[in-house]
Formats: sequence, C-alpha cells, structure tokens
Amino acid sequence: MTDQNNAIKFYSGEQIPVELHKVRIVQKLFLKPIEERKAAMEEAGFNTFLLNTKDIFLDMLTDSGTNAMSDNQVSSMLQADDAYAGSQSFYRMEKALRDVFGKHYVLPVHQGRAAENIVSQVFIKKGDVIPMNYHFTTTKEHMELNGGKVLEIYADDALEIKSNKPFKGNIDIDKLKAVYKEYGKEKVAFVRMEASTNLIGGQPFSMQNMRDVKKICEENGTMMVLDASLIGENAYFIKQREEEFKNTEIKDILLEMCSYADLIYFSSRKVSSTRGGGIVTDSKDLYMKMRDLLVLYEGFLTYGGMSVREIEAMAVGIIETCDETVISQSPSFIEYAVNQLDAVGIPVITPPGALGCHIDAKGFLSHVPQQEYPAGALASALFIISGIRGMERGTISSVRDENGDDILADVELLRLAFPRRVFTLSQTMFVVDRVKWLYDNRELVGGLEWVEEPPLLRFFMGRLKAKTDWPEKLMAKFRADFGESL
Ligand code: F0G
Repeated sequence: MTDQNNAIKFYSGEQIPVELHKVRIVQKLFLKPIEERKAAMEEAGFNTFLLNTKDIFLDMLTDSGTNAMSDNQVSSMLQADDAYAGSQSFYRMEKALRDVFGKHYVLPVHQGRAAENIVSQVFIKKGDVIPMNYHFTTTKEHMELNGGKVLEIYADDALEIKSNKPFKGNIDIDKLKAVYKEYGKEKVAFVRMEASTNLIGGQPFSMQNMRDVKKICEENGTMMVLDASLIGENAYFIKQREEEFKNTEIKDILLEMCSYADLIYFSSRKVSSTRGGGIVTDSKDLYMKMRDLLVLYEGFLTYGGMSVREIEAMAVGIIETCDETVISQSPSFIEYAVNQLDAVGIPVITPPGALGCHIDAKGFLSHVPQQEYPAGALASALFIISGIRGMERGTISSVRDENGDDILADVELLRLAFPRRVFTLSQTMFVVDRVKWLYDNRELVGGLEWVEEPPLLRFFMGRLKAKTDWPEKLMAKFRADFGESL
C-alpha cells in the first residue's frame, strides 16, 4: 500500500485529522480544581519541569519518550534477548536502522544527548566552529564544553512568527559560504542540520537545501552531521510542501535525506517512539573514532545503555516512522490547533510545524518585558487555568553572558507538544478553548523572577516566583467565568 494521510474530508467540506488508530490501552487522567493547580504551580517554583504528573491533566511538555507505542512495539518487547554482548535484539535493531537510514555502522546510546557527547568529544577541537540551522539546548552545551562555537545560519526571516515560508529550518547558503571565508575550512568541525528544527517551532528544511549544503560541505571537505530526532516529520513536510516529492514514499524521502549525511545521530525518545538513541554512519573511519567512547560512557556496543526491551521496540518503531499515517498524526493535530488559534488572532508560529503548537509569548503577553520571562509566565498561567503542561522555550531556556546578564532569547515560545497518537481531538479542542480564554484575559498575567537559578541548563531545575499577585487575580477571574467547572 502506498502512503496514506489522515486528513479526511467531511460532508461539511472541512478537513478533519481523523485518528487512523484505535485506543486499546488507556491511562486515567485527573483535572483538578484550579485552587489545587495554582498550589501545585507554586510548589513547582513556576517551572513546569518541576510539576508532578498527578497534578497534570494534559501533559504537553514534550514528545520525548511520551509518544504512544503501537501494539507491535509492545509485543516485540517480550522477545527481548537479555545479553551483555551479542544480543539478538541489537541485531534486529541494527537491521531496522540500516534499512531506514541506509547506513551500515550502528552505535546505540542511552539517549540523544549521549550521542551529542560522543560526537562533540570526537569531532570538535577548541576554537572550532559548527555552523547549523539552529541549536538545540543540550547540543550547544556539549559543543561549548568541548571548546566549539555554535553558528546559527538560518535565513533572515526564519524567526518571523507569522509566515508562509514552507522551510524555515533551511540553512542560508550565502551565510554558510561566508562562514568558510571568515573562519577557513580547517576551523569548521562539521555542518549540523537538525530535522524539524526544534527551538524555532519545529520547522523543517527542504531536500533542495540539504543538497545545496552537501555540495558546499563536499567542496570544503567538511562532514555533514544530521540530527534526525524529528526526521520522520521533516520527511512528511518535504512530501507535503516540496513539489518534486509529492508522489514519493516517505521511506524513499528518508533514504535520500540520509544519503547526504556523513553521520546521523538521534534521540529514539522521539524518532522511534521509545527511549534510547543512536549514531549511524557508513564510514568505518568515523565509526572507529567513536567506538571506544561508546563503551566508556554508554555500555557495550550491542546495548549502549538501553534495555533490550527498548531496543526491540526501537527496531519496530523506526520502521513505523516510515508509515505516513503514523508520522502525519502529530503534525496534523498541530495544524488543527494552530489554525484555530491563528483564526482568532492569537500569535502562533506559522506555518504549523512538527512537535508542537508554539505560541509566541512576546506577542501574547506584550506587556510583560522579556527580562520577566513572558514564555515562562505564559506556561505557568496556562497550567493554572487548565491543567495543561507546556514547556517554556525562551529566555529561561537561554543562558547568561560573561557579565551575568540574561542573553535574551531570539524567540519567546510556549511549546505545547503533541506526542504521537496520545491525545484525542476533543482534548485538542479543550487546549484551543483554554488558550483562547487566557488570551482574552492576558492583561491579568504578570512576570516571573528567580528564586533559585542553577548555573547549567537552568530551565530544568530552576525555581521562580510570580512578581506580583497575578496568579490570584487570574484564578478569581477563572472562577467568575467558569463557576464550579474544572
Ligand atoms: N536533538 C534534538 C533536536 C532534540 O529535540 C533533543 C531532545 C535532543 C537532541 C536530545 O535528545 O533528550 O534523548 O537526550 N529534545 C527533547 C525535547 C528533550 O523536549 O524537545 P535526548
């Protein structure tokens, strides 16, 4: 059967993203009263990472490790071959990864950042630069720890919130050429392309852009590294938005994308709807350079810190990522939510991308200065009024400069993730409804300030508080409008 998409035309003419799966295992959820949600937010230091899931209704923090697994994935876990070395589970996964990525050598790691650690240690020297479409938080930290400097070379208009550019994740070719002129090719450790560029709203790059980047890499003898954590969705967008590929099967789009990369690494927590991660390459030389660190940091070559059960599920999951009904589900729900919010003038990143619906907190809370963390404030406010947990992707997720001042983020986003096949359309409608209510009451939301600020990756564990009594005022208005409803 050829690829299938879940956008179904209704009698009314509307295109509705109908679920092409049925739910057979469920988890009970609780929607607690607003007073308890507010207390939970205070307890968590206004940081959604520190919330306890018992207090959460819809967990839209991330798709990492939270995508629904299929019946075939769960059943595969029972045939796991427990062995320190030479496990059959590993060979099944190795075959699946070779089939999907088209690369021969497979290095398993416990999650995506473990791959970043190894790749950065092996290929980055002090003073090197690493040009890329955009950084990811853990990627950047690993590169800087090894003395590298991240250069983000996206197009000038890639950060525009409202846009109809189909491929905002593209690398700007002129800027890439300029990097070689400025630094010289010896200083370029590698060029990194991140599929469905996470921090700028899950925005894809085009196949043509990969071809253009590859050509420059080849001219300069630089290796191209692909972060494939969200590659399935990027392939889906290529099929949707790049004329040349509208009749190409997802598996063939994936193979062509991978053919341009010398080294591919990924978080399996995303790409194969499991836990774990990996690095693949066709080069024995690159493989040999990484192999020993793998054994040092992760575990033996045939498990890399993962449980064999996860390895089995990964083998099945990566093949399922080539199924368009699987990888179109999250983007189509995101598109539904984005279109509903955009239609009433709520600032959301367009065109809709992968991973989540990204709300522009600078536009939403234009009265909250960036120094008071509008994306963090919006994440806290939305949790208080709805039990929906999103993730701050703004200045709190940034760092301080050498003078101790905040480096204000390019974009202040509240990310509402749509893990694959987890939420229903009525839950999505609830999200849209509560965001609309919050927008109409946005003047009530104020800023945040630090109580406890860790020096490294502060967004994970840091604690903040509301600068005024705005949470009380917001709660009172909610009660006035919704009465006893949850
Ligand atoms: N690269 C990208 C593009 C990612 O989105 C992530 C994780 C990683 C690498 C690191 O992988 O978590 O398995 O160590 N993104 C998660 C998120 C955390 O919520 O977006 P990991």
